[in-house]
Amino acid sequence: MELRKPLVRLAGVTREYAERNGPPIVALDGVDLEVPAGEFLGIIGPSGQGKSTLLNIMAGIDFPSRGRVFFRGTELPQEENERIREYRARHVSLVFQELNLVSHLNALQNAALPLVCRGEDNSTSIAHARAHLESLGLARELTRKPAKLSGGQKQRVAIARALTSDAELVLADEPTGSLDPKTSVDVMDAFAGLIRAGGRTVVLVTHNEGLAERYCTRIVECTTAGLREVRRVRTEAPERAVAAGRGKKSPRNPRNPRNPRDKVGS
Ligand SMILES: Nc1ncnc2c1ncn2[C@@H]1O[C@H](COP(=O)(O)OP(=O)(O)O)[C@@H](O)[C@H]1O
Ligand SMILES: [Mg+2]
Repeated sequence: MELRKPLVRLAGVTREYAERNGPPIVALDGVDLEVPAGEFLGIIGPSGQGKSTLLNIMAGIDFPSRGRVFFRGTELPQEENERIREYRARHVSLVFQELNLVSHLNALQNAALPLVCRGEDNSTSIAHARAHLESLGLARELTRKPAKLSGGQKQRVAIARALTSDAELVLADEPTGSLDPKTSVDVMDAFAGLIRAGGRTVVLVTHNEGLAERYCTRIVECTTAGLREVRRVRTEAPERAVAAGRGKKSPRNPRNPRNPRDKVGS
């Protein structure tokens, strides 16, 4: 699929957090970023460098202190209002670091939530949710509530929920952080599948550079000094990610040969 004009664009985005005593914490400093529709963008970088802040700003759940954010060329509001709520509800699907599953709903009901909330009928919503949960290896956990699921299982339910939603911008904050290598590959396959199916764009924060290089169409590193394009991997989401990637050792990282890129978990 050819990459199209930017779905999201950040122009000079700075985010500061006021500190009671002393200078503000600068989480992002004048970030410029364009995310073309159809991209699978990987964001890497050490902890505390603003990756989650960047994702939250793209999601419209946090706002820049300075700078502007555009979605399909239209500037997003910089405060909580009806328009930003509509943006979040219609266009964005999020996998947070804190998973935000609804505790009294089971796995299937949690994963079906985006469609149910949009007014889709129950059986269609459940069928979509079931397919995504099963593809992520949760066929036997469908009726379990979050309290009865392991950390990795809860993470997969949250991912299935994001996959079930048909919002075009999918934002995922370290979604494979607590998953084993095989499940991480399944998750990346699922994200890549969304892009191949068309109409979706994925921005993924990850510490797993090996997976990012295997799946992402572009990788940028987020540091306090700004964003740096690490690698433009390819212009298309991988067609045969599973066949090409699963079970294979990924190539060594030219930037840092000692970097344990296939590390899973953080
Ligand atoms: N709500 C907040 N209040 C104050 N400081 C914050 C808040 N959220 C994040 N920060 C600070 O902003 C910086 C970037 O945080 P974050 O975006 O979570 O980084 P990352 O996701 O790369 O680990 C860190 O120094 C963090 O302590
Ligand atoms: Mg973070």
